[in-house]
Amino acid sequence: MEDEIRRMQSSVLEGIPLELPPHPGHDSTVDHAPNRRQILTPDEKKLAIRNALRYIPPQHHELLAEEFLEELNTYGRVLMRRYRPVSHPIKAYPLDSYPAKSKQAASVMMMIHNNLDPAVAQFPHELITYGGNGSVFQNWAQYRLVMKYLCEMEHDQTLVMYSGHPLGLFPSTTEAPRVVVTNGMVIPNYSSQEDYERMNALGVTQYGQMTAGSYMYIGPQGIVHGTTITLLNAARLHLGLKDDADLSGITFITSGLGGMSGAQAKAATIAGASCIIAETNAHAAHKRHEQGWLTTVTDSIDEAIDLMVKAAKQNETISIGLIGNIVELWERCVEREIKVDLGSDQTSLHNPYQGGYFPADRTYDESALMLSEQPEQFKQEVQATLRRHASAINTMAERGMYFWDYGNAFLLEASRVGADVMKPDGTFAYPSYVEDIMGPMCFDHGFGPYRWVCTSGDPNDLAKTDEIAANVLRKMLETATDDVRQQINDNLRWIEQAGNNQLVVGSQARILYADDIGRRNIAMAMNDAIAQGEISGPVVLGRDHHDVSGTDSPYRETANIRDGSMFTADMAVHNAIGDAFRGATWVSIHNGGGVGWGEVINGGFGMLLDGSEDAARRLQNMLHWDVNNGVARRAWARNDGALSAIERAMELEPKLSVTLPNIVQPNLLDSLSRWSDE
Ligand SMILES: NC(=O)c1ccc[n+]([C@@H]2O[C@H](COP(=O)([O-])OP(=O)(O)OC[C@H]3O[C@@H](n4cnc5c(N)ncnc54)[C@H](O)[C@@H]3O)[C@@H](O)[C@H]2O)c1
Repeated sequence: MEDEIRRMQSSVLEGIPLELPPHPGHDSTVDHAPNRRQILTPDEKKLAIRNALRYIPPQHHELLAEEFLEELNTYGRVLMRRYRPVSHPIKAYPLDSYPAKSKQAASVMMMIHNNLDPAVAQFPHELITYGGNGSVFQNWAQYRLVMKYLCEMEHDQTLVMYSGHPLGLFPSTTEAPRVVVTNGMVIPNYSSQEDYERMNALGVTQYGQMTAGSYMYIGPQGIVHGTTITLLNAARLHLGLKDDADLSGITFITSGLGGMSGAQAKAATIAGASCIIAETNAHAAHKRHEQGWLTTVTDSIDEAIDLMVKAAKQNETISIGLIGNIVELWERCVEREIKVDLGSDQTSLHNPYQGGYFPADRTYDESALMLSEQPEQFKQEVQATLRRHASAINTMAERGMYFWDYGNAFLLEASRVGADVMKPDGTFAYPSYVEDIMGPMCFDHGFGPYRWVCTSGDPNDLAKTDEIAANVLRKMLETATDDVRQQINDNLRWIEQAGNNQLVVGSQARILYADDIGRRNIAMAMNDAIAQGEISGPVVLGRDHHDVSGTDSPYRETANIRDGSMFTADMAVHNAIGDAFRGATWVSIHNGGGVGWGEVINGGFGMLLDGSEDAARRLQNMLHWDVNNGVARRAWARNDGALSAIERAMELEPKLSVTLPNIVQPNLLDSLSRWSDE
């Protein structure tokens, strides 16, 4: 290990070497991203190569111009594979191992490494952490430069990140964030999928997803937790499940065993359901099986259905990975008149024509080939598949299944290709899971996906933090009001089980949903434990962007905002700015993430807790804003839960003074006589 750390240290200090490193070649032990379609004109390709060579010492231009063009022609972008470091494994090393002058900078390095760890990342050699195209950097030269800057960074400098490109270190103050990240920020009129593909191929922007380009991904644990809660709450709302019951006897069908979607396999069994998850990529399915998240894998649709039905009858939990297309599975369920209670979808439909969604009646390999060689044909088949998909779902829903859009742009993309997913009033026929479940039950009350990482890398530290969090939640339950008791209870149960569920992949990280007070209390207790040496090293705090305040996304996080402001993005932008001057170690703000480029603005933060009083001051100030910004906005939108949550927050904090809405009597407007000029 010591030798490995030494090799890592010299690699991160090296930056872009003057000598040309040997090309590491293609490594078939990791999964690789599908090649993208060719979008650039010959002149634009020249520009892309000239752009790429900006990172490279001139003596290598001749050779690398050829090599980069080859990459552009093959992968649809320049990845600079030659610069991928191979002297050491890329993974989260303990914080003290990083040769940085600033501990805060070292914490960013650790989190970047975690996002690129092959055990964590979906396509690590293409610098993609999850979601098919959620990138940490656009190319390996950017990675190398960033690591070097972070090693050199002083306590009063800030690294400025433009969509994976390090603009440089700028003087700031010790109070300022060490890193400010933007991903995919563009002029709004240039935010189409086509614009993204062109600018990404030119090497001037990237799709940072949510926690990929902000270095806050912790593996699928985050989404396992969120999915478990969603499944339980969906069944409570729509199947009359009792608050303390699990999903025994309930059937659930969905798709996707990739980066985030793979979590459905584990969440279904934690919740107790009988579940099939269709996945076209056999590699992804087997990975989840080896990991123990799938009970079984089959490529037979009928076998999968029979296993699901049998397990449900016996009240047994099972998660079956079906290697095949979700549409073929749904159509078979229709034919066989199978009773399915809950249905959803987590194919990567935020990226439908670049490999996020595969057409029916084709093998995975056939589809991947068609994508790079016949992109137009691929697009047409995707569209036809989506229409079939919606039609089968409609039949299942008519027969009693509760279907929800799982934030992957299923309804949006299906509607765009003319599938029958709209109600006569122009709204979607099915709710988004946020609109129905997460929004009113969690976000409006300030509950969201809070997370932390123990930078020592020691599992004992993680166990200690679990204990601290459980104690805080137990204490909060003593005085919890009825509207939040269920959420606290679910999360207490989760954290008590979290160690047994063995969900840690990569860094020693944990997630739970908590509100403002819960987040601050847990952070304060952890900071004290660091100060007293009960936890052996600093802790990084963060969250998924899929949260109360960080994200404006009209079909997802802000789907239950109904005052007409769901298409505005003031909240997300303010969140990142507000976090930055309240003490975050790094902040990020992204275009795209979850539901697609141009469809969402989302942001997040990272904060290093080192046991100091300074850290205590920062966490109190920043976390309070990071939650109450969104609660206040949701209250202004007249959401009931948010109104009571913000009123409670104002009682507790005299310096918080929020504009509250006056509510119009329900019948007043209907009684007015003239609503048009007719
Ligand atoms: N609701 C949430 O909380 C939430 C969280 C994370 C991600 N998402 C969304 O879910 C989607 C999936 O995320 P991910 O990180 O797992 O992406 P991913 O690309 O890693 O996984 C999607 C998987 O779907 C498979 N697939 C594609 N088309 C298919 C088809 N027709 N039939 C069966 N399988 C098919 C792909 O092979 C891939 O493995 C994204 O759009 C993401 O934004 C939602």
